[in-house]
Amino acid sequence: MEENINALKSVLDKEYEDFESAVEKVQTLSELENIENRFIGKKSLVSEYLKNMGTLSGEFRPVAGKTINETRKKISERIFLIREEISLIEFDKKLRNEKSDLTLPGRKIKKGSKNIISQIIEEIEMFFIGLGYEIAEGPEIETDYYNFEALNHPPDHPARSLHDTFFIDENILLRTHTSPVQIRYMEKHKPPVYVIAPGKTYRKDYDVTHTPMFTQIEGLAVDKDINFGNFKWTLETFVHAIFGKDRKIRFRPHYFPFTEPSAEVDVSCNMCKGSGCRICSYSGWLEILGAGMVDPNLYKFVGYDAEEVNGFAFGVGIERIAMLKYGINDLRMFFDNDLRFLNQF
Ligand code: PHE
Repeated sequence: MEENINALKSVLDKEYEDFESAVEKVQTLSELENIENRFIGKKSLVSEYLKNMGTLSGEFRPVAGKTINETRKKISERIFLIREEISLIEFDKKLRNEKSDLTLPGRKIKKGSKNIISQIIEEIEMFFIGLGYEIAEGPEIETDYYNFEALNHPPDHPARSLHDTFFIDENILLRTHTSPVQIRYMEKHKPPVYVIAPGKTYRKDYDVTHTPMFTQIEGLAVDKDINFGNFKWTLETFVHAIFGKDRKIRFRPHYFPFTEPSAEVDVSCNMCKGSGCRICSYSGWLEILGAGMVDPNLYKFVGYDAEEVNGFAFGVGIERIAMLKYGINDLRMFFDNDLRFLNQF
């Protein structure tokens, strides 16, 4: 740099003129950035001059520094203003481009829905909650004690073989019904007991009406003066709530080790109104649940006084209810995850 202030000034004036004519045509922020680099960036003339200040004589240095800084400031202020202006223009342009086209058809949102089995469980729960029942749960991996022994199946009881049980070892198994929850609940609660227990159950079975995993709801009522009339009323009211008031029910004698007397409960066939058809195997009736008065033997296992209390219990197969309610003829469809099937409910 020549140590002559006029010469320096005219170089800087020329630089500023170049800057002005470059900046005049600027349209975008990135173009402006290039110009900023060129005129006040690290490699610009102004920056080079400032870097070399140390080589100038002591007298010339402050005069030169002031002049160079003035030019730098002028350029940078100008850039600041232009940047504001371009930003506004670009923002405005962006908004214009983003304008929604309200005439476009909307995109469909795919909604999930509750599985039919869950819907029926909820429906049954609501009914029994309305009667004052509580909801209980138990483990799906059970011990032989809760699944069989405390439900009045001694070790060599033939009824054990009716359940095609998945054993994990001699003592541990996948529960074959929700009845073990009866024992677990009574162990922890004193009577009166009004409880229902929904959950998954497992048996080695696989055909049109059986799957290895299926769903049951257990019901248990134990209180001081429970009789067969209460039992019948409860199940009849339940069936009417789920299937409609026009359906009849009947109690067919049956055997379960943990109820005495025991019954299977049938509901009248809706297809033929009881006159007999293919759906009900020409009997006019469809089986929907197993039930009975609690066998007093069970009370010994849970520390209740069999002289003091009575009760009834029932076990409902949820898939079966769903099949009958909606006329589904293959149980396996519930577990195939075919949306064409599931979306119908
Ligand atoms: N647990 C029985 C079953 O799965 C049903 C049942 C429950 C019967 C309660 C009587 C009382 O077959």
